[in-house]
Amino acid sequence: MRNVKIALLGLGNVGKGVWKILNMNKEELKKRSGYNIEISKVLVKDINKNRDIDVPKEVLTNDFEDILQDNSIEIVVEVIGGIDPAVDYMVKSMKKKKHIVTANKMAIATKGNILLKTAREENVMFYYEASVGGGIPIIHGLKESLTANKIEEVIGIINGTTNYILTKMTLFGLNFYDALKEAQEKGYAEADPTSDVEAFDAMYKLTILSSLAFDTIVSTDSIYREGITNIKPIDIEYAKEFGYVIKLLSIVKEIDGQLELRVHPTMIPSTHPLANVNDSFNAIFIKGNAVGDLMLYGRGAGELPTGSAVVGDIVSILRNRQSGASRIDIKEENNIIKNMNSIISEYYIRITVKDNPGVLGEISSIFGNNNVSILSVIQKGKRQEKVTLVFITHSTIEGNINRAMEIIQSLKDTEKIENIIRIENL
Ligand code: HSE
Repeated sequence: MRNVKIALLGLGNVGKGVWKILNMNKEELKKRSGYNIEISKVLVKDINKNRDIDVPKEVLTNDFEDILQDNSIEIVVEVIGGIDPAVDYMVKSMKKKKHIVTANKMAIATKGNILLKTAREENVMFYYEASVGGGIPIIHGLKESLTANKIEEVIGIINGTTNYILTKMTLFGLNFYDALKEAQEKGYAEADPTSDVEAFDAMYKLTILSSLAFDTIVSTDSIYREGITNIKPIDIEYAKEFGYVIKLLSIVKEIDGQLELRVHPTMIPSTHPLANVNDSFNAIFIKGNAVGDLMLYGRGAGELPTGSAVVGDIVSILRNRQSGASRIDIKEENNIIKNMNSIISEYYIRITVKDNPGVLGEISSIFGNNNVSILSVIQKGKRQEKVTLVFITHSTIEGNINRAMEIIQSLKDTEKIENIIRIENL
């Protein structure tokens, strides 16, 4: 049995998962890869920190040069996350002819071109299955299993933290802040939850999925992003009344040669499979012109699920090394991004108005004058000073909605436009 030495950069959740899987499934991995995989060094900040896994002290180092200069290390597994120093470490490692496995969505989404270009120039392999959807084999799926298809759309629930929060709000009536607190207590949300709740995490992941599905480079700047902090229990209640569930969806569609790229809270029919993806689970729904509708479902985070994707990549490198089958495609940024004003959707609009005669009529005419057709309207409650109006529109161009809302906002009887949520009738 041949031995292969690898190094881990980082020993957080994912790093621990990789360590555990390589020990737990040692024999299976030997058979499947043809190698005895040895973690010969692990880069950590603090060698003396107490850890809940049994990593021999001599394996730990706090000096990246120990790994970089060790020619016996053939694969570097980057699980530090973020840009600095992760990207620099990966580039330097590739220049020393080391193959890379990474779980780093931010690095791939924002520096993917540098990383892949270096991999190609240095003739090393670069794998990143764990960067999207944790243990779900979506990267491999798009790169290999679905290459026969022209992909029409990819719609994902790819952030477990926000899905956990929205699930608690939907099933148990919690408000956003209580649900977030619970997510933090369970270890899903971080102390500073901005990256998850404001949808930066989902935006990075959508960048990666879009590039793969549509063979192009997508810049994170071209993705419309809206988080879940403005979703109120009342919106969830109205959604239920109309037969919808609110999910944070990451959407990419190719329409008339243009890419529509957006991450935002979305109402979807409660009967759609994505509506039943609950808690911290992730799912990715794909439409291909040959395969039809497809959905992948699983754990999008966590030690072992993410570790599963990382170790799978290590085995792929070892197998491809023997067959010489690896290839890195360099993509061009040649896509036209659809302006959000020209996307077509249905909309849920919740407005607080003064309960004066003619208000509903006035607002309805503004919608009509701007080519927004109303499917239904609800006004609840007894006569009082202020009331809530909820409109559901037919399909319309977002620009029409924006024009209408600008006028409605300026009416003397409008107290507040409380929320506008897009509806996808999947
Ligand atoms: N913060 C991420 C999530 C974890 O909530 O899905 C993995 O990227």
